Amino acid sequence: MKGVVLAGGTGSRLYPLTKITNKHLLPVYDKPMIYYPIQTLVDAGIREILIVTGGKNAGDFLRLLANGKEFGLRHLHYTYQEGEGGIAEALALAEHFADGDKLCVILGDNIIEGSIRDAVEDFRRQPRGAKILLKEVPDAERFGVAEIVGDRIVGIEEKPKRPRSNYAVTGIYMYDNTVFDKIRTLVPSERGELEITDVNNAYIREGTMTFSFLEGWWTDAGTFDSLLRAANLVVQSRRRALEPAAVGSDKT
Ligand code: G1P
Repeated sequence: MKGVVLAGGTGSRLYPLTKITNKHLLPVYDKPMIYYPIQTLVDAGIREILIVTGGKNAGDFLRLLANGKEFGLRHLHYTYQEGEGGIAEALALAEHFADGDKLCVILGDNIIEGSIRDAVEDFRRQPRGAKILLKEVPDAERFGVAEIVGDRIVGIEEKPKRPRSNYAVTGIYMYDNTVFDKIRTLVPSERGELEITDVNNAYIREGTMTFSFLEGWWTDAGTFDSLLRAANLVVQSRRRALEPAAVGSDKT
C-alpha cells in the first residue's frame, strides 16, 4: 500500500499565520505539522509516500523534507495542486503515483496519538473498497459525521448542523484504485470543492466501505483552537512517555 499526505489549501482559518507560509509547515510543539502525518504513515509500514501541496510555498516542502531521510525513507514523491478544488481534487492528483495500488490517505493537519498499523493491515487483506477511521468527539458538527446502524455505516454527512452521531470521520482514509473513477463522477459542493465525504458515500452506496475506531487521541490542527490543542496533546504524550524514566531516575 502506498501513502498520500494531502497538504494543500490556503489555511484561511489560520490567517495571518498562513499569510506567508503553508498551514502544514507551522509548528506543532517541536515539529512542523506535516511531520506528524508522515510519521503516522511510516509507523504503519508505508514506505512510498506522495506529498500533495499547493499555493505559494510548495518549494518549502522540498527544502524541509527533501527525500525523507529523517523518517528513514529513501525517497519522497511530490505533486502540486493548482487552485482550491478540495480534498478529493487533491487526491485525484495521486492517480499516476498509485499506479493501481491501494492507498492510505492522510490529511496533513491530522495528528494522532496511536498507530494505524492494524487498520492498514486489515485493509491490505480487504479484497476491495475503502476503509475509514472514526473517533468519538464532543463537537461532531465540525467534521464529517458517520451514521452507524448495527455494525454498518449507512452514510456520512459533512459538517451537519444536527449530527446523527458523535462519530467524526477522521482524515485518514484507505482506498482501492476505483477511488479515481469515483472522484471523476463528483460535482463541486456548495463550498465549491470536490468533497472527500462524497467519495466515501460512493463506497458506502456500493457496499464496500468498512470502518474501525481510532485508539488514542486525534485532532486536526486547522483552526487556532485545534492548533493549540494539538500542541498541548503532543507535549502531554511526550511527557507521559518520559514519566517512567523520570520516576526511575528520581529513585536512584
Ligand atoms: C475535512 C473533511 C471532514 C473530516 C475532516 C477531518 O474537513 O471534509 O469530513 O472530518 O477533514 O479533519 P476540513 O478540514 O476540510 O474542514
